Amino acid sequence: MNKVILSITLISMGLIISCGGGDTTAPNAAETAVTEAPKADPKGIGAITSVTLTDPMEQSMIASGKAIYEMKCSACHKLDGMRVVGPGFSGITNRRRPEWVMNMITNTEVMLEKDPAAQALLEECLMRMPNQNLSTGDARDVLEFMRKNDEDTAGKKDGAVNS
Ligand code: HEC
Repeated sequence: MNKVILSITLISMGLIISCGGGDTTAPNAAETAVTEAPKADPKGIGAITSVTLTDPMEQSMIASGKAIYEMKCSACHKLDGMRVVGPGFSGITNRRRPEWVMNMITNTEVMLEKDPAAQALLEECLMRMPNQNLSTGDARDVLEFMRKNDEDTAGKKDGAVNS
């Protein structure tokens, strides 16, 4: 009789200890899940917070942007929608804000580290875009060339300006 009582006592102690352990960790895990989830800025991360676009486009900037593209970008980015190493540029001004595009070009490392949209691309492409060391002016010229390319290849440009 005494033996039965003792084993019942031991079993209940075991239950109390294991339940206690489980209860202390569960709420912490739930709290962490709620406090994370960063909100993506559609302008990206970097020095470019506002871009003024002109219409009609600036021909001299398009020419300069085209030359920079051919020298520093065309090995990895095509002008149609096809991905080679990086995504094709067609339609880029319709899916990304101009500030995001320029921050991606001039602040590449930080964008790949912290911007959710850039990180998603990195997961798809499996290779880090190297910073091409463009000045803000050069990046703006490339953006103008991308606008022209979108007009020619996608039939529409600047679709993401206010996204
Ligand atoms: C060595 C290859 C390489 C070169 C050179 C390169 N890129 Fe990239 N680029 C990438 C890759 C790969 C990605 C996708 C993100 C990642 O995986 O790092 C990317 C992403 C981008 C994006 C975002 C595309 C989108 O669809 O949102 C822009 C904008 C961009 N690059 C601009 C440029 C410009 C402008 C140049 C030239 C000055 C350039 N890149 C040169 C490889 C390259």
